[in-house]
Amino acid sequence: MRDILIAPSILSADFTRLAEAVVEVEAAGADLVHVDVMDGVFVPNLTFGPPVIRALKRVAGVPLDVHLMISNADETVGWYLEAGADYVTVHAEACRHLHRVVQAIRGAGAKAGVALNPATPVSVLHDIIRELDMVLVMSVNPGFGGQSFIPGSVGKVADVAEMARLAGADVLIEVDGGMNSSTAPLVAGAGARVLVAGNAVFCSEDPAAAIAAIRESALRAQV
Ligand code: DX5
Ligand code: ZN
Repeated sequence: MRDILIAPSILSADFTRLAEAVVEVEAAGADLVHVDVMDGVFVPNLTFGPPVIRALKRVAGVPLDVHLMISNADETVGWYLEAGADYVTVHAEACRHLHRVVQAIRGAGAKAGVALNPATPVSVLHDIIRELDMVLVMSVNPGFGGQSFIPGSVGKVADVAEMARLAGADVLIEVDGGMNSSTAPLVAGAGARVLVAGNAVFCSEDPAAAIAAIRESALRAQV
């Protein structure tokens, strides 16, 4: 399908004015707002948790795409669902009972995603891909914004797309890390539909132009 969703990551926003940042990127064309939750354990960095998501939900007009980079999603995923997350993506590497967590997300009426770090093989999705709404391919090692895109992510996106096709699974493939108008076409051509962009949007003088440039470059590459 020729359709690309752009999800600006508020990790790169000015934290003193998060609400305004959400309103601004929505006006600039964001389809989702990507919220990077980091716990200082699964990844070294520490960001925000359920109370901030609850607050963002009050101002957001588009779905909140919550990316949990936390070691205890098995125990705490319910907090993020109650806070109003629309998409909840957990890391395959961090969940002891991945299937149970995915069931909990869908059971609450939210969309369920599973993220893979750069060194995690696509094969871990084999027995769960039919239960998912989204697969998030990390194109950097999680923890920080502003890192460089890892080129091997392109083949990984293609592998997820092929697995989904063979399984008859209707999943959105999302790519996160180092996205800009040069890297977006590479992953869109391989089957990605949702592109997370932090620095490329929030460090731009013109976020609307940045979002449009990423979207247009990706649409041109879509098969
Ligand atoms: C990294 C986060 C990303 C990050 C993307 O751990 O999951 O969402 O904020 O930022 P950029 O687009 O700057 O690489
Ligand atoms: Zn993210």
